Amino acid sequence: MEFIDLKAQYRAYQAELEEAALKVLRSGRYILGPEVAALEKALAARVGVRYAVGVSSGTDALLLILTALGLGPGDAVIVPCFTFAATAEVVRRVGAQVVFADVDEKFMVLTPETVKIALSKAREQGLSVRALVAVGLFGAPSFLDELEVLAASEGLWLIEDACQSLGASLKGRAAGSFGKAAAVSFFPAKPLGAYGDAGMVFTSEEGLFEKIKALRVHGQTERYLHVYLGFNARLDTLQAALLLVKLKYFDQEIERRREIARRYREGLAGLPLRFQALPAGAESVYAQFVLCTKERDALRDFLAARGIPTAVYYPRPLHLQPAFSELGYRAGSFPAAEKLAQEILALPMHPFLKQEAQEFIIQTVRAFYDAG
Ligand SMILES: Cc1ncc(COP(=O)(O)O)c(C=O)c1O
Repeated sequence: MEFIDLKAQYRAYQAELEEAALKVLRSGRYILGPEVAALEKALAARVGVRYAVGVSSGTDALLLILTALGLGPGDAVIVPCFTFAATAEVVRRVGAQVVFADVDEKFMVLTPETVKIALSKAREQGLSVRALVAVGLFGAPSFLDELEVLAASEGLWLIEDACQSLGASLKGRAAGSFGKAAAVSFFPAKPLGAYGDAGMVFTSEEGLFEKIKALRVHGQTERYLHVYLGFNARLDTLQAALLLVKLKYFDQEIERRREIARRYREGLAGLPLRFQALPAGAESVYAQFVLCTKERDALRDFLAARGIPTAVYYPRPLHLQPAFSELGYRAGSFPAAEKLAQEILALPMHPFLKQEAQEFIIQTVRAFYDAG
């Protein structure tokens, strides 16, 4: 059994994917070919924003947003301490200070309360907090509307890290449409995955869009006019062409993910474990299906011994990572994130997970608790 079966997905769309790839190979238009613009247009419309910029990865999408906003030395940015490292890494990369905030234990993401605590501590320390990066962790776009209101009232820019949450929605609004700009990742295992690294920025602000578009090509606004110090951070034409094929099946795949999540919740009900809570109106895209249990490591071994792969996202919160040790946080700084790191476990989740395989996973988890 695969944790995420990318090969089954490839086989399902093989003919169309191969045809799309060959078309690019034969076209000779490998850099910013027409498929990039077509994907940008399709996804901007889907997300409900005015602009999209195809970039080389989700990390670069975040980096370009922070750079375009002019964040740098002397600025501080609030980020959750329970997320993938890239969310915080980019803040340091532009030279700004990372201010970690704890996540809510049940929802596993930032809430207005956890942000307010981090903000007031940072301000007490005299830091100039300019922005807030909110992550749709595991595909859940929770509280983004409230965080947008809070950010506006506190004079902060909200940046949405939607790297895991493209396809999700909150009260009818699509993930990727909140705040000044959003970053999406098309890393192969993401809900909409490419066949290599790829990402996208979404924004409705024209000035920001123009700047990000220039930044992805060495700060050029026209050929050989370098207005900004930029990057080489373009989305490959080949990846865009493959993503356009997968986009056709995206809604169907999201439905499958939601169905699988519903079956996990029902099949595992009554056991001493809990799932990621979702606020009213939040529709997760289930990039991961996670549960929390005190017996995490024993359960993981029990499942592995029976051929069921699992994953731990994330075993160590970012404030306890060596790369951020200079910030001076300690064990105990963020109790909810630290507890999640001990208790969280992701079960196999992908649109091609067969019902029998899922039934086996559910029965095996049940058997673990029956045996204990
Ligand atoms: C929350 C989060 N932010 C940022 C990233 C970075 O995306 P990428 O791997 O495309 O650079 C990822 C995924 O890897 C992620 O899960």
